[in-house]
Amino acid sequence: MKPKIFSLALAAAAGIGLAAPAAAETKVGLLLPYSGTYAALGNEITDGFNLALELAGRSGEFDIVREDTEVKPPVGLAKARKLVLEDEVDVIVGIVSSGVLGAVRDFIDGAQVPLIVANAGNDNATGDACSAYITRVSFSNGQVNRPMGTWLAGQGVKKVYTLAPDYAAGRQMIEAFTETYTAAGGEIVGGEYTPFGQTSDFGPYLANAKASGADAIYTFYAGGEAISFVKQYGSFGKELPLYGSGFLTSPLYVAAEGDAAVGVITSLHYVPTLDTPENKAFVEAFGAAYDRVPSEYAVHGYDAGMSLMAAIDSGASDRETIAAALPKVKYVGPRGPLEIDPATNNIVQNIYIYETVKDGDGLTQKVVGTVEAVRDAPKGCNLR
Ligand code: BEZ
Repeated sequence: MKPKIFSLALAAAAGIGLAAPAAAETKVGLLLPYSGTYAALGNEITDGFNLALELAGRSGEFDIVREDTEVKPPVGLAKARKLVLEDEVDVIVGIVSSGVLGAVRDFIDGAQVPLIVANAGNDNATGDACSAYITRVSFSNGQVNRPMGTWLAGQGVKKVYTLAPDYAAGRQMIEAFTETYTAAGGEIVGGEYTPFGQTSDFGPYLANAKASGADAIYTFYAGGEAISFVKQYGSFGKELPLYGSGFLTSPLYVAAEGDAAVGVITSLHYVPTLDTPENKAFVEAFGAAYDRVPSEYAVHGYDAGMSLMAAIDSGASDRETIAAALPKVKYVGPRGPLEIDPATNNIVQNIYIYETVKDGDGLTQKVVGTVEAVRDAPKGCNLR
């Protein structure tokens, strides 16, 4: 969707006396899911990215080619090859699924094309499979979930049952939570990985969780799967308290989950209720452009656009110089302080623990804890 912003570039295009927009100088490939279980996430990232360029009045500097990964690793790889070899883009922005990121990693590294990761949390991409051409401005799966293990054990929750989709993101998120939760004295009494993108009935899994004797469920689901999971959790009477990574109750789709989401406590790197001047300005601008509250996915797209413009402003102009400039980006944005760890090219950022609460007829996010400047261990990556 095009944001409703009267930027300098739009004014110029409308012929009202400003200089004509500059010819596009940087070709960007947006590699995102525009169909499948994460389609809404791809659209939200696109909206955030476009907003960053529009607010800066710089949309005219960028020639954008979109490709749909369909959330399928082989399709994502084919589309990445097309963007690089046929469209000859200067930079790729995107990728939502950890599975797709795993599939394109070797091609990106070999082709020496900068990739700004605007969602996919695959730990390996900034760990043992890191690359000087991959910079992540979203989160890593471990980064979001480790703080929650320590926090939940500290709340006196002793026994947990885990549930997540059976692919890289589900497994890495549960493993990261398990590591810190058990180190803090918690016990995992059971868990299952559900077929990714193919599970419509979560009833049997919720029944197994109840039968396990757990005190609570810990989970990761996102997009369409998150909506189905939380709604069914509500229909089964919310028999156990529900915790997880914050994609479960994202503002992008929490309204579709309804009251079933009330009381769910999760961890994430962004919620739109953060009380900072940078976030308030962003929420206002996003609302004015799209008539809705931004989610973490919108912030990923926005920060990808901000980082790309910052890299260009530092003098970068081609694949090699953009790749080299991206890890030097550092600023305070909607989510708080943002910097890139030079050892891994992964983002360093705050993680917020939030509860989904009622707000009149709707739902909102109440922050109940903050862990500052969370950084991943290099895990075999040593870029600099
Ligand atoms: C992932 O596959 O890395 C992912 C997808 C959606 C939300 C969060 C992570």
